Amino acid sequence: MKKIFIVANWKLNPIAEKKAGVLFSTIQESVREEIEDLGEAEVVICPPFLYLPVLKKEQKREPEEQRIELGSQDCFWEDKGAFTGEVSPLMLRDMGCKYVIVGHSERRKFFSENDEMVNKKIKAALKHGLRPIVCIDKLDQAEAALQGIDEEQKKKVIVAYELLWAIGSGKPCSYEQAREFNLSLKEVIGSDHPTLYGGSVNAENAVGFISESQFQGLLIGGASLRPDEFFEIIRSVRER
Ligand code: PGA
Repeated sequence: MKKIFIVANWKLNPIAEKKAGVLFSTIQESVREEIEDLGEAEVVICPPFLYLPVLKKEQKREPEEQRIELGSQDCFWEDKGAFTGEVSPLMLRDMGCKYVIVGHSERRKFFSENDEMVNKKIKAALKHGLRPIVCIDKLDQAEAALQGIDEEQKKKVIVAYELLWAIGSGKPCSYEQAREFNLSLKEVIGSDHPTLYGGSVNAENAVGFISESQFQGLLIGGASLRPDEFFEIIRSVRER
């Protein structure tokens, strides 16, 4: 069964562990009560690193068919050692993560991440069995991200198309423009890769990016912090 990915990027939110726990359990509860089986929908929440243990605890109680998966918003490329402030893919696996966002435009902008660093992070994530979700807004970034990765491993890389002006602006890309980019992207990286759309996704436009623009999922920032709306996105994608 082809998965449809619904990925929440909480960014630097919420501001306390308790709030993170409540946010997660509110979403998980709605899924438990209203959706018998997530089926093709793979729901992934990527909180700040610090909240992973508390979310992992909540998550473990859920039956597999209703379980929300965990991901992180970044990782380093080394396993361990003298790298102050970093978190490795090995640690993230241990914390229950299955996914890791890599090369988000905010990391490229505020932390000067370049294509070479993004490529190293993807390779490190794959080495430890994490599926990278690589964010790009240009085709050459996608090519650079996948440099030197063998064909089998490459298929595990998920590529998220996020136009800079669409992120957090409330002005999503049109379905048509997103579809065109998606088709060009598939020509460059191969049709086996799941591609996601990100940028001002909300409960009204979510399904369109899948049915009209033919993406295999969504990367959601702002709306993922509003539990009712995020759940509505899950439900609408599930029922489309
Ligand atoms: P947004 O963020 O949904 O708030 O536009 C998307 C993202 O940055 O991943």
